[in-house]
Amino acid sequence: MTSVIILAIESSCDDTAVAVLQDGRILCNKIASQKVHELYGGVVPELASRAHQQHIVPLTQLALKEAGIALDQLSAIAFTAGPGLLGSLMVGTSFAKGLALALDIPLIAIHHMEAHVLAHFIEEPHPAFPFLCLTVSGGHTHLTRMDGPFSSTMLGKTIDDAAGEAFDKAAKMLGLPYPGGPLIDQHARSGNPLAFKFASPQIPELNYSFSGIKTSILYFLQAETRKNPDFITQNLNDLCASVQYTIIRHLMKKLEKAVQQTGIREVALAGGVSANSALRSALIEAGKNGNWNTYIPAFEYCTDNAAMIAIAAYYKFKEGIFSHQQIAPFANANY
Ligand code: KG4
Ligand code: ZN
Repeated sequence: MTSVIILAIESSCDDTAVAVLQDGRILCNKIASQKVHELYGGVVPELASRAHQQHIVPLTQLALKEAGIALDQLSAIAFTAGPGLLGSLMVGTSFAKGLALALDIPLIAIHHMEAHVLAHFIEEPHPAFPFLCLTVSGGHTHLTRMDGPFSSTMLGKTIDDAAGEAFDKAAKMLGLPYPGGPLIDQHARSGNPLAFKFASPQIPELNYSFSGIKTSILYFLQAETRKNPDFITQNLNDLCASVQYTIIRHLMKKLEKAVQQTGIREVALAGGVSANSALRSALIEAGKNGNWNTYIPAFEYCTDNAAMIAIAAYYKFKEGIFSHQQIAPFANANY
């Protein structure tokens, strides 16, 4: 039987990523992260597109070299079609289309959020269907029931900010550079999560809301820094721990409710925020207490990467689901 070898491209935001997969196994997973955005406190779309243009060809050459794969061995080209920044998506989409056309091989368009969930199938052990997945990233917070690789039901989602956005916005208020989520995680390790209390959202069903937490942090910091201008620097670790605790408690409450409602005990985390050490521990703890089987991807497969695009494409390849050259990237989640 001939091998299935897929080259996968991810360029939805500020990381250019390329991976090579052979028969379901990742041979190489490369990322070029864009540092330029740190100066601006957030991703600047125009700069992101330009940096993708600079990185995409050399990164692909490097990935193929490391994987020991030649262009004429490829079976298909996969790319992130969306959601994401339109200019960034256009770079990956056009590159993938051009390469697929030149090599006369199939093109496979991947939904970024589906790929975050399917990142669970890169390594063993992976969750068994049906499973619950809490996908938490910079742009999305979804609680889904997964019945198959491309068969899911949305049980709940955020009605305003995403969990990663809440981390990043809180970090900005605390004077930390972008992206602040990982820095909050680091500082929180030496802080007391119960030092300060922030509003806990009361949202119906299995939905989430993070804008109230953000406002509560802002008003609290404004009041405290009026009394003591050094309040933030003097209490940074406790502040980070308390913010993180508030966000995670909200995330976990709804996840626990979803387990109760569905009776499903296969429970997974996905997306960039699943790299958070306290969220990972909270899931493991809840799993022990509730007798759930819990799953979290390795760190490199939590934040944006092309290995997750490759594995999602592998499932599509096996099912014969290919895309037309006319396919256009989409900026918004149609999910
Ligand atoms: O999935 P991802 O890499 O990109 C999107 O699809 O958005 O997620 C990025 C988000 C950012 O908001 C970042 O701050 C957050 O994930 N993040 C974290 C951690 N690592 C990444 N948030 C909290 N703790 C972390 N360790
Ligand atoms: Zn992502």
